[in-house]
Amino acid sequence: MGKNCFSSRIGYVLAAAGSAVGLGNIWRFPYLTAKYGGGIFLLTYLILILTFGYSLLIAENCLGRMTGKGPIGAFRDLCAGKDSFLGKVSIGGWLNSIAPVIIVPYYCVIGGWVIKYCVAMLTTPISQFHKDATIMVDGVLKDASTTYFTQFITSTWEPILYFLLFAAILIAVVAMGVEKGIERFNKILMPLLVVMCVGICIYCCFLPNAGEGLRYYLLPDKSQFSYMTVVAAMGQLFFSLSIAMGIMVTYGSYFRDDHNLMKSVNQIEFFDTLVAFLAGVMIIPAVFVFLGEEGMRSSGPGLMFEALPRVFAEMGSIGNAVGCMFFVMVLLAALTSAMSLMEAVVASLIDAFGWTRSRATVFEAAVAAAMGAVICFGYNFLYFEAVLPNGSKAQILDILDYLSNNILMPLLAIGTCILIGWIIKPKTVIDEVTKNGERFGRRGLYVVMIRFIAPVLLFVLLRGSVGVFK
Ligand code: PHE
Repeated sequence: MGKNCFSSRIGYVLAAAGSAVGLGNIWRFPYLTAKYGGGIFLLTYLILILTFGYSLLIAENCLGRMTGKGPIGAFRDLCAGKDSFLGKVSIGGWLNSIAPVIIVPYYCVIGGWVIKYCVAMLTTPISQFHKDATIMVDGVLKDASTTYFTQFITSTWEPILYFLLFAAILIAVVAMGVEKGIERFNKILMPLLVVMCVGICIYCCFLPNAGEGLRYYLLPDKSQFSYMTVVAAMGQLFFSLSIAMGIMVTYGSYFRDDHNLMKSVNQIEFFDTLVAFLAGVMIIPAVFVFLGEEGMRSSGPGLMFEALPRVFAEMGSIGNAVGCMFFVMVLLAALTSAMSLMEAVVASLIDAFGWTRSRATVFEAAVAAAMGAVICFGYNFLYFEAVLPNGSKAQILDILDYLSNNILMPLLAIGTCILIGWIIKPKTVIDEVTKNGERFGRRGLYVVMIRFIAPVLLFVLLRGSVGVFK
């Protein structure tokens, strides 16, 4: 079997952007922007993405292309023959592969919730989600939209069925391989996603009073700027670009030698930031207009599955259609991200154990199914409430999310910075990028970033996420 490769550069850009554009863009970015001072947050985010995000993105892609291997193989090859301390960094490859093993199941569980809501928007009258609608539960009147979501996730089998449906689509795509599966699907799904996203944005901008919401979203509010703005922007950027998960290393290993890596990385950054920004344009004015400042406080599942259905209900007869289009768009975003996560695991299994693609896919599918079932039951008979070091309450899903994003991701990125900045040296990456005569933009910045600034920033992020600044 020949080496896996994306057949075209655009196929690669769409697949990597597909990985980057996901739930994080839609349910976290708008909320963080609104919370941390609008335009000020946006500016901080842009500066960070062009410096810090860019350096790590290029570094990871290069590790993949240089070695032609996923994270395990790449770290192993590059650390080979180093003295014992530096040689230990090779463990970073394994850790890079563990992170997606943890994320795949819970991302698929949430993907299942999104499918459920696509169906709900088609089959349930939107008025049932109205903010004034109530429902009687055990003799108590409760808010209908929240109750609908709670009843769904706490039921025994329904979440598992939807989870399995989402996972089945993924497994089918990943089993088809890089070019015939991942590339082909991203080439169709990503343009569709952008068209839907722009369509909903235009609709939302014409809502009465949308201007006020947009002002809230975009006008800089300096009083909201703090140290935490930077920490929050950095955490978001990280998750959003799918860095430190072995994903970009894996995708980079499928990047052809004669294609322009620099240009591709810039396009991925642009794509990801654009969709995050548009998600804000789509969500903030609508939530602001219909639910007021109160509604702006929700993020994550609370925003997507409770607040937004209320917003669609306010739109009246068109609410079901707009809601359906929105959830289909979210589904596309979630699918393309989950694809990259699963591919990273499959590639690592192939690398580490020499398995065939089908064997690796079946194995990963079984692990994900078992973990996914436990996560779903976490809202049912395995329910408990833990408190995370940052103070928030958590169930199984939140614990896995916290572990992978707040602990593993920064740690892994520090490992990557050490590998590139101090073991193989930044010049190796520069040589790799420019080997076909391309120009390496922001070169000096890249070197300083990867050796000094990024590790320090990452350390700050790690401390921030274990609750030191709360
Ligand atoms: N980047 C994706 C998002 O914004 C999430 C993700 C993280 C996907 C890590 C893959 C790996 O939602």
